[in-house]
Amino acid sequence: MSEFIHLGQEKRHQNQILFNAIARRYDFLNHFLSLGLDLHWRRKLVQSLPATLQGPVLDVATGTGDLALAILKRFPELKLTGLDNTPAMLEQARHKMIKRGVEFVTVTADAEQTGFEAKIFTALTIAFGLRNIGNYSEALQEFFRILQPNGRLLILEFNRPESRVFGPLYSFYFHRILPLVGGFISGSKAYHYLPESVDNFPDRITLRKLIADAGFSNIKITDLTYGVVTLITAEKPII
Ligand SMILES: C[S@@+](CC[C@H](N)C(=O)[O-])C[C@H]1O[C@@H](n2cnc3c(N)ncnc32)[C@H](O)[C@@H]1O
Repeated sequence: MSEFIHLGQEKRHQNQILFNAIARRYDFLNHFLSLGLDLHWRRKLVQSLPATLQGPVLDVATGTGDLALAILKRFPELKLTGLDNTPAMLEQARHKMIKRGVEFVTVTADAEQTGFEAKIFTALTIAFGLRNIGNYSEALQEFFRILQPNGRLLILEFNRPESRVFGPLYSFYFHRILPLVGGFISGSKAYHYLPESVDNFPDRITLRKLIADAGFSNIKITDLTYGVVTLITAEKPII
């Protein structure tokens, strides 16, 4: 158990160094390497939020704030907080807020221990963040704790396409081309880490079980772009 906690802490520390190093180029590389699809994937998550959504909403691993800003575009009056444990990423988010004349609260904290009181958020979103977290179960239990009964959990995450034709082609791009181009532009190993972290991420069945074990119900997993990314929605039961 202590070894498990140690591994989680180690991953957290490594990721903070990594995201700190790429923070200023993160947005450009995201859009460039995904051919702009990252914007489409976040939009899909935003469209899955109920039209009647009222805050407060927490965007975990908010990074440079792209998902938070996309949510606020649809719900301009929403009370939204963006949480992340890499200050340099949050700094980019704040620059963007000023540029766009939009505001949301940013909090520097770990997803596994947010420090929020129980049952306060109506929805919790996390885009391309869960995979980076040291201990998935611990984080999911924390999300469950801070959500209100009937609160929504929405996760966007990379996955491994299951198609026999598209899968190998994508795998070649993801494992060979992307680390080269991303590494060249960012000067960082982050884009070697990306395919490695997706390879090690739980498959759809295991993920569903982890989310259910944390207490969530009505879990739906939808593949986007042939399963390159999955959108997962779940609810905290009323009782
Ligand atoms: C790939 S970025 C995603 C950023 C943003 N959500 C997006 O859609 O582009 C992952 C973010 O997760 C953050 N992160 C990783 N582990 C974390 C943890 N344990 N607690 C909080 N944030 C974490 C990183 O600092 C980074 O900003």
